[in-house]
Amino acid sequence: MRSAWIRCGVLLALGFVGCKSSSSGGGGTAPAVDEIVLGEYGSMTGAEANFGQSTHNGILMALEEINAAGGVKGKKIRLVNYDDQGKTSEVGTAVTRLITSDNVLAIIGEVASSLSLAGGQVAQQHGVPMISPSSTNPKVTETGDYIFRVCFIDPFQGYVMAKFATDPKDQKGLGIKKVAILIDQRQAYSQGLARDFEIALLKVGGSIAGKASYQGGDQDFTAQLTQIKNAAPEAIYLPGYYTDIANIARQVRALGIPPTVPLLGGDGWESVTEIGGPAIDGAYYSNHYAPEDPRPEVQAFVTKYKAKHGRVPDSLAALGYDATMLFKDAVNRAPTIDRKAVRDAIAATKDLQGVAGKITIDAQRNARKPAVVLQIHSANKTAAFVTSISP
Ligand code: PHE
Repeated sequence: MRSAWIRCGVLLALGFVGCKSSSSGGGGTAPAVDEIVLGEYGSMTGAEANFGQSTHNGILMALEEINAAGGVKGKKIRLVNYDDQGKTSEVGTAVTRLITSDNVLAIIGEVASSLSLAGGQVAQQHGVPMISPSSTNPKVTETGDYIFRVCFIDPFQGYVMAKFATDPKDQKGLGIKKVAILIDQRQAYSQGLARDFEIALLKVGGSIAGKASYQGGDQDFTAQLTQIKNAAPEAIYLPGYYTDIANIARQVRALGIPPTVPLLGGDGWESVTEIGGPAIDGAYYSNHYAPEDPRPEVQAFVTKYKAKHGRVPDSLAALGYDATMLFKDAVNRAPTIDRKAVRDAIAATKDLQGVAGKITIDAQRNARKPAVVLQIHSANKTAAFVTSISP
């Protein structure tokens, strides 16, 4: 595990002087540190580095706003962040360290569902509230009563793309019936979303042209894609992460599957526009928010983020921001500042206005929200709003 990734940088960014706050008290007793410590674990490096980095940017933006306004209950929030490199094997150490040596009040993480499942086990065992900004596999919050998320879950996300694919063209759909699926066997997210999409597709009158699988990180998809090509699907559903999706898209077109067979995906595609090139042009994916949404919360966030990072914030940044705001809101409502009280306050969250929609935490500790469908325009590396679908 990388140690204390940008820990000091964060403190500096938030206006602290060094890595530990201390004051020169003459009485010989250690001064009480009047701060709240929030933990974060994420993929700052590795194949899913964009997931961790974007989320981190969103968290930092929220903390800057919160601390500039005086913090919460008069205390500044200090962030401690560890890089898990996108590896399950690193997560246990990172989360344990946040809890036992950094003594965090709560934890934000992870993005990838498999990693949230691993980290959630540890947080639950220690009774530390964990808020996943963007893990969508239902099992994540089933881990226990300390585990929450601020996004929708995959049975809904699968339904969204199944409905969009099969809805008639005059109802903003693609008018398609027969879809092939390519699954990443390494990720709980991909396996779960593939199943949820299939269930939903059959329910809305579609059919599965065939299924094939790969291991995240594979480079050659010829065998799977040849099998899919021979099944002559009207579309291909790819519930994977962006680095693999970019490779798969290139090989789909190189094998001669024409652009009239669209590629469809889920939120794990976020940032594929950066690396997908022309092969990904015209593809559709479901997501948590659209930056062109005119709501004032969205526009204020987009303007600020662009000024700071020189690009439009993706949904990971938006959800990292929202998860941090939910934490602050909960600490503010909690009668005392301890893990149990904060847990109870998070569970009671109602109608909190977030960038990626309004957050009400339900009895399963999930948030129910609409999803958007975006279409990729590779020439300018953007994904544009097509439609919004509600649960
Ligand atoms: N929902 C994905 C998962 O559960 C993670 C993700 C969310 C990726 C949003 C990109 C954008 O693994």
